[in-house]
Amino acid sequence: MLEPISIALIGQKFMGRAHSNAWRQVARFFDVPFEPILHTVAGRDAAELEAFAQRWGWARATTDWSSIAGDETVELVDIGTPNDVHAEQAIALLESGKHVACEKPLAGTLSDARAMRDAAKRAKKSKTFVWFNYRRCPAVALAHRLVSEGKLGRIVHVRAHYLQDWGAPSTPFSWRYSKKVAGSGAHGDLNAHIVDMARFVTGQEIVEIHGAVAPTFVKERAVAGTKKKAKCDVDDAVLFLASFAGGAVASFEASRLAAGHQNDNGIEINGTKGSLRFAFEDMNLLHFHDATADARTAGWTRIMCTKGGAHPYAANWWPDAHVLGYEHGFTNMAADILRVLGKHKPEVPLPDFADAYETQRVLEAALVSARERCAVKLSDVK
Ligand SMILES: NC(=O)c1ccc[n+]([C@@H]2O[C@H](COP(=O)([O-])OP(=O)(O)OC[C@H]3O[C@@H](n4cnc5c(N)ncnc54)[C@H](O)[C@@H]3O)[C@@H](O)[C@H]2O)c1
Repeated sequence: MLEPISIALIGQKFMGRAHSNAWRQVARFFDVPFEPILHTVAGRDAAELEAFAQRWGWARATTDWSSIAGDETVELVDIGTPNDVHAEQAIALLESGKHVACEKPLAGTLSDARAMRDAAKRAKKSKTFVWFNYRRCPAVALAHRLVSEGKLGRIVHVRAHYLQDWGAPSTPFSWRYSKKVAGSGAHGDLNAHIVDMARFVTGQEIVEIHGAVAPTFVKERAVAGTKKKAKCDVDDAVLFLASFAGGAVASFEASRLAAGHQNDNGIEINGTKGSLRFAFEDMNLLHFHDATADARTAGWTRIMCTKGGAHPYAANWWPDAHVLGYEHGFTNMAADILRVLGKHKPEVPLPDFADAYETQRVLEAALVSARERCAVKLSDVK
């Protein structure tokens, strides 16, 4: 029998479903040191919460997330709420001795993110994690390994984009369009992922933002079920240029108004010995070009990252080319969280609050660059 670990989840919608599924699946597919017990789910709407708890197997539902702090049975709290409440919830739960796994971006603002990083530092017995789930696509984890093994030589150029198209003018208002709640728009939502992915795959920090734009195309939106309109004060798209510590140049693009791009999260890494290319909508594939190969046969290799023993996480799932999907990244991450809590090594490094704070500094620097129309050195963003 595996040792149990009681988990509480805050937030029961999109990420609440993705995380509940991961906690339910993880011990079936991975040899993890703990069996997750779905102890408590917290949210705001009591009726929705009860139905959610029954469907996903959470033993208790509450509209008072702060009651989790006083419950000694709960060891790990999983936060899937909007960005403005991450800090309040994570800090209170760290101070009550829990481990905390928080959704990305770490917070809506740099000052909230800093407070979370500092609280994590103070909570010496607690571990923190941030759900940058795309690190746990086998193809992205493989890209990280290939770069760290030197297969690409010196990294000179990173191109990352995360384009979606659900932000048309007809889309009604939601918390994602409010600066007070979300902090930013496409930037914190989408650039957060690709900045994390670029830092993870290259193993390098971004040191300067050279310029950025952050327009809001749709300034107000209908409030569903009313005749009212609400003001949208976050960016709809943010593009910026950057440099890495090793000298590589990089471009990042995020948009919610890129018609036809549904979940187009992609990265290309070009080095002196080769290149890598990943696109989430074909998430099982990694494309590799070996620039040192015989020129007669050189070309892009299409790697199906599903071979157990060769590719990260693949041995825990299905036979070759019995492909994985969105939810597997979360289950892979749940496995690594449990491994770390059991003092084992994760398959590839997990982001904690200190790591996610570095991503948040990059996001902040890009927003300053767009606002001030200037270059921003990361050393000036504390
Ligand atoms: N990792 C990813 O790929 C990914 C994808 C989507 C969203 N996210 C992140 O996950 C978080 C949640 O996003 P979502 O899409 O699940 O949002 P959502 O709107 O679908 O769900 C938010 C949930 O939080 C609850 N909630 C809101 N305020 C609360 C409060 N004060 N106390 C308790 N519960 C509260 C709501 O009732 C709801 O259940 C955000 O930080 C978002 O950026 C990450």
